[in-house]
Amino acid sequence: MFTTILAGRTAPLAATRSRAVPRVATRAAQAAISLHVAGYASQVKPIERIAVVGSGLMGAGVVQVAAQAGLHVYMVDLNDESLRKGEKIITSSLKRVAKKKFGGDAEGADARAYIDDVMSRVKLSKDSAAAASDSQLVVEAIVENLQTKQALFRGLDKAAPAETIFVSNTSSLPIGDIASATGAARQAQFAGMHFFNPVPQMKLVEIIRTPQTSDAVFDALVAVTKKIGKVPVACKDTPGFIVNRLLVPYMMEALRLVERGDASKEDVDTAMKLGAGYPMGPFELLDYVGLDTTKYITDGWYQFGKGLKGDKLVGPSSLLDKLVEEKKLGRKSGEGFYSYQGVGADKGKR
Ligand code: CAA
Ligand code: NAD
Repeated sequence: MFTTILAGRTAPLAATRSRAVPRVATRAAQAAISLHVAGYASQVKPIERIAVVGSGLMGAGVVQVAAQAGLHVYMVDLNDESLRKGEKIITSSLKRVAKKKFGGDAEGADARAYIDDVMSRVKLSKDSAAAASDSQLVVEAIVENLQTKQALFRGLDKAAPAETIFVSNTSSLPIGDIASATGAARQAQFAGMHFFNPVPQMKLVEIIRTPQTSDAVFDALVAVTKKIGKVPVACKDTPGFIVNRLLVPYMMEALRLVERGDASKEDVDTAMKLGAGYPMGPFELLDYVGLDTTKYITDGWYQFGKGLKGDKLVGPSSLLDKLVEEKKLGRKSGEGFYSYQGVGADKGKR
């Protein structure tokens, strides 16, 4: 429809690009260079129309940065209330962007024209199949549950053109398992595209390919990542990819420290900000990510995670479980480890 992406070779990631890299380069440098090379090597038509399914914290952020970069975006969710929430996340973030762009005035004519221009490229929809049928790329950012994600993609596989690329923004689930709900041809068009929260501010996107993901699809995802102003890194389909494999166990260790009574959550947060230079302490970050999302991640790894199954590092935390049970999910619900009542999901804590 919009682009022709052929299912290409299925060589493993490290082998696909390394020939172009000078011998003197370190492995890390090789990876960076190979991504750089891949971005230019592609014959794929640029991605201009995308559908983002899920308009929560992450989906709304992806919609925003894509529309800011000039892409046409469907923002899809289950109901009007969720779509309205997503729209609100985007407009309040765009106000911050516009404020900086236009000298501190987020309400002035220039700022308004900028926000209206970005929002003119965003279409709201409750029909994921219709949105996918009109898109070159579908980004899934719905709840972190394998069966729910599989059910969504199973339906979209039938609705979307054969050349449409599917990606999941999952934090922790194997991309191959999600992709397995689709047919063999689509699996060559399937990858992970892992954005970070808050999407407008965090520069990184992890691109995850399975053994089935084609080179052309990988290249197209590198190119679209750069187009929306982000920096791509590549990772195999391994639990947590790069960032979450390191970050989630760190947050769980912070929970254990407090559960044992070794230190207060406030002191742990202060310690990591002032002693390790982190922008947020682990409890502030847990509230930021969402306690339900963190619980989905660790429960999944503890039960099924390759190399992590049964590992105490990702075992249940009574403190986390209690807050999730009480629907205290962090900033998005107004309360988690800290209270955010009346200050908005993207504002500071009380
Ligand atoms: N939209 C637009 N701009 C935003 C924004 C948003 N949602 N959030 C922050 N900003 C901008 C602000 O406008 C400000 O810009 P300037 O410096 O140019 O004025 C800048 O970001 C800093 O914002 P603040 O002063 O409000 O607050 P801060 O300095 O405390 O930074 C933060 C906020 C960027 C969120 C920072 O605290 C941070 O980096 N925290 C760690 C976030 C993190 O680790 N994210 C990864 C989570 S893990 C994940 O996402 C993966 C997963 O699968 C779970
Ligand atoms: P969220 O709870 O804020 O939003 C999820 C949205 O998906 C909700 O609006 C919900 O109504 C919608 N939804 C659920 N099922 C749907 C369906 N079948 N069709 C359409 N919409 C549906 O969650 P989030 O934090 O944005 O996380 C979304 C995904 O991104 C998860 O896989 C999560 O692991 C991942 N992720 C989260 C973070 C984070 O920091 N929160 C960071 C990176 C990746």
